[in-house]
Amino acid sequence: MEYLNFAVEMARAAGDVLKHYANREKFVELKGRANLVTAADKESEALIIEAIRKRYPDHAILAEESGALSGSKTAEGQWIIDPLDGTTNFAHQYPFYCVSIGFEQRGQLRCGAVYDPFRDEMFSGGSGAGAFLNGEKIRVSAAARLSDALLMTGFPYNFRDHIDDILSKFRAFLFESQAVRRGGSAALDMCYVAMGRSDGFWEMNLQPWDTAAGQVILEEAGGRLSNFKGDPFSIYVKEIAASNGKIHDEMIRVLSQHR
Ligand code: IPD
Ligand code: CA
Ligand code: CA
Repeated sequence: MEYLNFAVEMARAAGDVLKHYANREKFVELKGRANLVTAADKESEALIIEAIRKRYPDHAILAEESGALSGSKTAEGQWIIDPLDGTTNFAHQYPFYCVSIGFEQRGQLRCGAVYDPFRDEMFSGGSGAGAFLNGEKIRVSAAARLSDALLMTGFPYNFRDHIDDILSKFRAFLFESQAVRRGGSAALDMCYVAMGRSDGFWEMNLQPWDTAAGQVILEEAGGRLSNFKGDPFSIYVKEIAASNGKIHDEMIRVLSQHR
């Protein structure tokens, strides 16, 4: 609980940084052709790292903009941070972005917080403790068939290298589900599945900081995660299929057939 409360506290404080920058002119730098970074990403990350360094100086940190920062040799904890998930949305004032903070202990994800400052929605989860939205328990949806499902997906920055694969899966899900949305923040996409606004999500080439907090929240909300073949999910593998559990096998069938 201590780590979870701390993650929530930091996500909220970092969310305030995003709010501060939200309606101002953004000075956007490019990390790749369409891969952006702004002052808000950097300031949000700096605030989180400083808070961790102060409270848990021996813990390791894996953060999107700073990379891996090692802790002490005996450190058993690692914080996994996306200071702003959905930077492209943020830069365009499209209100779908968040802060995502996960905590891993001895290789096991323990807790996570995902905060959407625009809607003031704090998603949180701790292993064995449940998943919550603003303190209220959340659960995945009851949709039992893919044909009843609202799905979400995302396209990686290097989509050009995988365009046929991506479009073939997208096309297949479009035909088989009720609808597909492309939100632009993988961490929020996962939380939306966790609380039933969506029934399933898939994407390729995500990074640990996109999915660490979302994994705990979704599992604690009764959801299921795997790679595209249905094998166990890890934040360190590059494929994610996430669902309410009930439509998971159908999703895996589509993902396996359209490679
Ligand atoms: C991105 C978002 C987006 C997903 C990309 C991610 P960023 O993260 O999660 O939804 O499609 O693959 O890289 O760059 O905004 O932190
Ligand atoms: Ca991200
Ligand atoms: Ca980011």
